[in-house]
Amino acid sequence: MHVAVIGSGYVGLVAGACLAETGNDVICVDKDREKIARLQKNEIPIYEPGLEPMVQRNQAEGRLTFTTDIAAAVKSARVIFIAVGTPPGEDGSADLQHVLGVAREIGRHMNEPKIVVTKSTVPVGTAEKVRAAVKSETKIDFAVCSNPEFLKEGAAIEDFMRPDRVVIGVDTEEAKSVMGELYSAFTRQGGNRIIFMDIASAEVTKYAANAMLATRISFMNQMALFCELVGADVHNVRLGIGSDQRIGRAFLYPGPGYGGSCFPKDVKAIIRTADDLGLSLDVLKSVEAVNECQKLVVLEKVKRYLGADLKGKAVGIWGLAFKAETDDMRESPTIPLIEGLLAAGAKVQAHDPKATDSARAIFGDRVMYAADPYSAAHGADALLLMTEWLVYRNPDFERLLKLLRRPLLVDGRNLYDPTRLKALGFEYHGIGRGGR
Ligand SMILES: NC(=O)c1ccc[n+]([C@@H]2O[C@H](COP(=O)([O-])OP(=O)(O)OC[C@H]3O[C@@H](n4cnc5c(N)ncnc54)[C@H](O)[C@@H]3O)[C@@H](O)[C@H]2O)c1
Repeated sequence: MHVAVIGSGYVGLVAGACLAETGNDVICVDKDREKIARLQKNEIPIYEPGLEPMVQRNQAEGRLTFTTDIAAAVKSARVIFIAVGTPPGEDGSADLQHVLGVAREIGRHMNEPKIVVTKSTVPVGTAEKVRAAVKSETKIDFAVCSNPEFLKEGAAIEDFMRPDRVVIGVDTEEAKSVMGELYSAFTRQGGNRIIFMDIASAEVTKYAANAMLATRISFMNQMALFCELVGADVHNVRLGIGSDQRIGRAFLYPGPGYGGSCFPKDVKAIIRTADDLGLSLDVLKSVEAVNECQKLVVLEKVKRYLGADLKGKAVGIWGLAFKAETDDMRESPTIPLIEGLLAAGAKVQAHDPKATDSARAIFGDRVMYAADPYSAAHGADALLLMTEWLVYRNPDFERLLKLLRRPLLVDGRNLYDPTRLKALGFEYHGIGRGGR
């Protein structure tokens, strides 16, 4: 099938590569000329495991091409995915200017009937706005679909190739059949996991999924605070409740607050949509408020143990990205942490296996970027574990003890065993692990 994907970021690039991998002819479009030039040379602008060889292979075999020419891409495609960004506007609502701008361009270049699919995360009602925007530019017949994306950064290829489910909102039989054909390659194993529904429900499903996951995180972060006050260990509580099948194990990990390009903006956007309709989503407003506080929990711990004035203190940080296996720094909890440390006068020396370049774009030279984890700990008065990268899971603790000026370790991801770390001589503090 001939497919165009407009927007070649985390979602568009992964979707385009995976659709090419299953035999389709895919043109990925972006307005960013530099990004497209790099992609044409097989240089991948983001870090995503497995993506680079997939792009190389499909480009070499002629199924995947990159262009800035949206007109040519639209003309050649039967199915057009819109995968551009939907950043939060000033009032928290999703900014649809890129989505609707692309929709008008699609209309302008439409040469025969097509299926226009919103893959970007967009508020309920957007597909109808896309329909109107395309229609304003063409007389040719077309269908719109909502196909929200559920991939996780860091496991994006795996998620796209073997999805738990594919949600497709359609209102014509033809669109249903074409989309079903396109996705059948990814859902052959384990029964049919394509869920067709009406367009509005598909749009709401994406926000409901992210809002639920964010709710679980904020819930566990509050349980962690409670555990600290009563001398309980949230690690045990998590094991205890996660084994209940009604609750399940996923997304029950307390930490330094959720971040990334999706949860914060999507929670904000659904709150805003409901507010506009006169419904206050109070659960989600609390989820957001709890998360804002949680992003400062590690900073508060540092100040509790080292004092509010951090002049003359050095602080090592392991992990900058908002989660492991990505270089994405968007809304990472390390941003308010580092800003707080710098404002209090600390010297910050940080390490991340992949996100150093993204971090440099934010902090510039105000942070020292260490080439390896141990250099970040050298001479530090505290070491803060912020991202659960594999490389931090089992470090040489004896070596760390020698490198640190003070053996204070704040484990923002509860990666380590408190008993073992204390026995080794660390002043160990996790999140919600008995005592403050
Ligand atoms: N990142 C994720 O994990 C994830 C997961 C699921 C859904 N989503 C959603 O998918 C959408 C895209 O997210 P992303 O993380 O890929 O964003 P991104 O910022 O990485 O990529 C968006 C791309 O679109 C391009 N673009 C913008 N306007 C354009 C235009 N007019 N023509 C051509 N290209 C244009 C940008 O240059 C950029 O390369 C968002 O709505 C997001 O909420 C993201």
